[in-house]
Amino acid sequence: MCGIVGYVGPRDSQDILIAGLARLEYRGYDSAGIAVIDGDGSLHSAKKAGKLAMLRDELASSPIAAGTTGIGHTRWATHGGPTDVNAHPHLADDDKLAVIHNGIIENFSELKAELLAEGYTFRSETDTEVSAVLLGREYSAHDGDLAAAFRAVVNRLEGAFTLLVMHQDHPGLVLGARRNSPLVIGLGEGENFLGSDVAAFVEHTRNALAIGQDQIAAITPEGVEVTDFAGNPVEAEPFEVKWDATAAEKGGWPSFMAKEISEEPEAVANTILGRVHDGKVVIPELDGMDELFAGISRIVIVGAGTAAYSALVGKYAIEQWARIPVDVELAHEFRYRDPLVGPDVLVISISQSGETMDTLMAVKEANRLGAKTLSICNTQGATIPRESDAVVYLHAGPEVAVASTKAFVAQITGLYLFALHVGRIRGTVSAEVQSEAIREFADLPEKIRWILENEQERIEQLAHWMADTRSVLFLGRHVGYPIALEGALKLKEISYIHAEGFAAGELKHGPIALVEPGLPVFVVVPSPSGAPTLHAKVVSNIQEIRARGARVIAIAEAGDAAVLPHADEVLRIPLAGPLFEPILAVVPLHIFAMGLANAKGLDVDQPRNLAKSVTVE
Ligand code: M6R
Repeated sequence: MCGIVGYVGPRDSQDILIAGLARLEYRGYDSAGIAVIDGDGSLHSAKKAGKLAMLRDELASSPIAAGTTGIGHTRWATHGGPTDVNAHPHLADDDKLAVIHNGIIENFSELKAELLAEGYTFRSETDTEVSAVLLGREYSAHDGDLAAAFRAVVNRLEGAFTLLVMHQDHPGLVLGARRNSPLVIGLGEGENFLGSDVAAFVEHTRNALAIGQDQIAAITPEGVEVTDFAGNPVEAEPFEVKWDATAAEKGGWPSFMAKEISEEPEAVANTILGRVHDGKVVIPELDGMDELFAGISRIVIVGAGTAAYSALVGKYAIEQWARIPVDVELAHEFRYRDPLVGPDVLVISISQSGETMDTLMAVKEANRLGAKTLSICNTQGATIPRESDAVVYLHAGPEVAVASTKAFVAQITGLYLFALHVGRIRGTVSAEVQSEAIREFADLPEKIRWILENEQERIEQLAHWMADTRSVLFLGRHVGYPIALEGALKLKEISYIHAEGFAAGELKHGPIALVEPGLPVFVVVPSPSGAPTLHAKVVSNIQEIRARGARVIAIAEAGDAAVLPHADEVLRIPLAGPLFEPILAVVPLHIFAMGLANAKGLDVDQPRNLAKSVTVE
């Protein structure tokens, strides 16, 4: 969850570190800090609780020396509250070495007890400081060989970690290690970088190296070396970052979330790009897997949060088009319940970041059980794709706001493409259905644009009027049900309003007791054309809640007159086939959540207690 950046080269590292941290701040924003080694070989650091702006202020009022070797950290607190003292870097060996860390060191109490017994002292409550103090001890034990000392440390640690370290006796050297937590190398000219993800250095280079599990990278201005935890050299996998720094900037938008909602049309279009050939959906990355797809008996999709909701939508399409039974599981539940998967099961993980620890662990468990694993992911070079047998990248571009928006529509699109690809191989989807779906795909970006152009303002106004609302319900049926869940999650996470999503049919089994006069209820209304029975049922559900005083806000197709007499507000979406409707229906809900958070004056990009990438279990 924390953001990590490292630099070695000829330039002043402070600016590079702070700019890198600004791009990584979405990963955590409880505190931030940097450490640099100056020209005289002395280590200096500064750290501050709060957002990066607080560190910037601190550096402006109490500058530290310039240095060309440096590390920087932005924190999402796990062990120890978000205070100045608990902020990273943590120093040891008479403040000659600095350590920053992402993850959780599970055996930190045991290690701390060992070090305390030897007379070492600690300043913070963090698990990270234990690794710093341990490194100090090992540094002396290994006669100043930093790499050997670092290997000794990482081999003692349990849990998940990315660690960056540097020592003032070794200017021009930063070491990084990773286990179940992300770390990538950026390759520059006479300078090199380390980062939690490529956003840390994309402004300087788009040439990157992915580091594998349990590997250590040593960067100097002259080059990069990667070894395993035993010190054996290993090959790191090169890749080129497909987007540039401007893609990860606000570009005049008031927030990243606003920008990313506006990019939903392109997110869908870019996911489809290159995957339709001769009137058929063909995903080139899945070449050579036909036999596997023809033979599997079941699919399990794992993910968390919004990704899990896109998986729920995907289930309908895969079952309808590929005729394979699909179970959707929250990744954190999958691993701990002895899942029944084996070689005839395909486990698909879905993740924007490709780093979500719960999802990563589920993938590892699926691999251990002999299942085939496929990652549907938006972030190149991330850990989950690297741990999977195959990957389909979404190409939605970097998503920075904590609330996932454009990735959600891209994820559904990716799952639909997969369903059609596999359906074609299994002969379960006719040429006609295939062509119809391709037509729908082609129209989607323009239809999303229509919503943004014609409904956004009205939805934001509605959100403004509802700024004092205490509770909101979201209802949907069939593919509209996961959309209701997504609408509720988005509202909770950025506007801190109590919100629940329900399957509309479930209402009468309990949740209708929540309905009281004035309660706002969003209802995702299915298309009357494709699914008339479903449509009629939802209109009945609307009448049931309206009769109890609910204020109904329907999301319905333009032209759906049946809903008009029963709704207080109707948010219009363009006509689309029933399976394609969720990709449109979610857009007003994303806009609404953002509008309401804005109306309450909240930070929509960095909501409290959250981080973009949840890299702890
Ligand atoms: O990076 P991932 O897609 O794996 O992230 C999964 C969830 O943590 C994420 O979707 C989270 O629920 C979002 N903040 C929702 O907006």
